[in-house]
Amino acid sequence: MKNNNLNQYPNTRMRRLRKTRAIRELVEETSLNVNDLIYPVFITDKNNSENIELMPDIKRLCMNDLMQTAEKLVLHGIHAIALFPVIDKKYKSSNGEEAYKSDGLIQKTIAKLKSEFPELLVITDVALDPYTTHGQDGIIDDNNYVTNDKTIQILKKQALSHAEAGADIVAPSDMMDGRIGAIRAELEKNNFHNTLILSYAAKYASCFYGPFRDAVNSSDSLATGNKNNYQMDPRNSDESLREVALDISEGADIVMIKPAMMYQDIILKIKSEFACPVFAFQVSGEYAMLKAAANAGYLCHKESVMESVLSIKRSGASGIFTYNAIEIAQWLKE
Ligand code: PBG
Repeated sequence: MKNNNLNQYPNTRMRRLRKTRAIRELVEETSLNVNDLIYPVFITDKNNSENIELMPDIKRLCMNDLMQTAEKLVLHGIHAIALFPVIDKKYKSSNGEEAYKSDGLIQKTIAKLKSEFPELLVITDVALDPYTTHGQDGIIDDNNYVTNDKTIQILKKQALSHAEAGADIVAPSDMMDGRIGAIRAELEKNNFHNTLILSYAAKYASCFYGPFRDAVNSSDSLATGNKNNYQMDPRNSDESLREVALDISEGADIVMIKPAMMYQDIILKIKSEFACPVFAFQVSGEYAMLKAAANAGYLCHKESVMESVLSIKRSGASGIFTYNAIEIAQWLKE
């Protein structure tokens, strides 16, 4: 702070700037608006949508309901939807080949969304966990170690299949080394010069993904396994800078920090260090936590959700994945 010889009280009374709503609003530094929101959805090939036990009020959406949801997003002015497929067991395999099939669930869904709502940005998850029998984000070797370079070969195909289906933004969430460069090269080679890459650059090995794994049915597959040898260690902050620097140099357009609420120091650090757009993901466990507190009557749902997302923005995120995006858009209009 430059002004370190502040006049003392009563010359300085901090409360003057808080006296009325009008002055509070004039001095506001951060305001949330609909442009900040990205809505993550789970999609299923079933004929009906299904409830998700660990994420109350969120569903695995069937195609019809997804289209209605997309329409709602457009009506509210939300610019982007992020798709997470729930894959039937019969399509899962050890190497996750289903991930890059041109007529797979995700590829068909992208095409349908883009044909009906061309203005809505479609963001896709590039990682193998919904597709593998073992629930890991990549290909495992005999020691159950997720092999980096072999996995990248599949991720390249997966990302290309999303771009071919019409995805606007591919978002690798797998944390393999070098995958951004490989995917960028693959997209360039195939003339997808303008397909954006949103890299989950600083993705921590977090227990707050638990409800998501229930939603995509990968928790059973993962069983006692974990992702600690590729996702980042929650004790560390420095390596987030190296991860982001590498991803930008490899061609990432936007970098993401995840989870959001628990890692706001990382958001701030990265936003201060790099001149690039930073997104953050308020993850399933963060959603579930706020929802449970609201349902138990411990917190006001609207106020706690709004404050949490505003705080993520204040930390430096310009795009926020939140399962509350639709409600927030509604509240912002009130
Ligand atoms: C898969 C992926 C995960 C999330 C987004 N993409 C789970 C994981 O890494 O285990 C988590 C999202 C959430 O918890 O809301 N690679």
